[in-house]
Amino acid sequence: MSNLATERVLSVHHWNDSLFSFRTTRDRALRFTNGQFVMIGLEVEGRPLTRAYSIASPNHEEHLEFFSIKVPNGPLTSRLQHLREGDPIVVSKKPTGTLVLHDLKPGKHLYLLSTGTGLAPFMSVIQDPETYERFERVVLIHGVRTVSELAYRDFITNELPQHEFFGEFVRDKLIYYPTVTREPFENQGRLTDLINSGKLFRDIGLPELDPAIDRAMICGSPAMLKDCCDLLDSRGFHISKHIGEPGDYVIERAFVEK
Ligand code: A2P
Repeated sequence: MSNLATERVLSVHHWNDSLFSFRTTRDRALRFTNGQFVMIGLEVEGRPLTRAYSIASPNHEEHLEFFSIKVPNGPLTSRLQHLREGDPIVVSKKPTGTLVLHDLKPGKHLYLLSTGTGLAPFMSVIQDPETYERFERVVLIHGVRTVSELAYRDFITNELPQHEFFGEFVRDKLIYYPTVTREPFENQGRLTDLINSGKLFRDIGLPELDPAIDRAMICGSPAMLKDCCDLLDSRGFHISKHIGEPGDYVIERAFVEK
């Protein structure tokens, strides 16, 4: 039996020249944990060409959503960016991944650290009611080069707080902190620098990182992951080493280079 199902594109949204997101139908049998990824792709010359993509929609929605970069000569994204409503897309039947709540020890504040398309899994996590049941504060940091790369900003700041089921949680607990490195913006600089200088904590009104009460999920480029891991390790945080073994923080590569 094939491990791949064929779904249909429901809608496509282009954020700017290099980023887009799209929704697809979802097989009723597909179960996933918020924060996980699946393999998705296209049939190319009769064979599936797939890459790992975090699911950006929460598991209570009927559709699936994905957030993607457009790599100019990327074998998959150079094709995916031309998707239109109604097009077929293959989606694997086996979601997996490390950015899941149950691999974090109990804590008070949850830090979701992302750069670029590393935001995708956290779009799912911030729409999971369990996130707000487990943590008093949820801090979503999205670092990008330019303001136009702040995808989902309007949705996070204007729509989510009005959500009929968990809008109240979002209003009380979610702190969204977008930061831009290569043009002027209200928050500027790399998230690692903002943490190291303490500016982030002054801005959001929370204490400096403390492994006794803080937990983190990290998704970005390999360099960003390394710097964030070094930063957390030096403050006494312990990574979750395997799926199913809770730690103070979990990491996943943003699936770039497609
Ligand atoms: P910068 O503009 O200073 O490189 P990229 O598109 O290269 O993945 O970068 C996305 C965002 O992540 C940019 O704002 C970039 O900042 C930032 N970034 C790149 N590398 C790191 C890193 N090692 N640690 C933290 N932020 C990083």
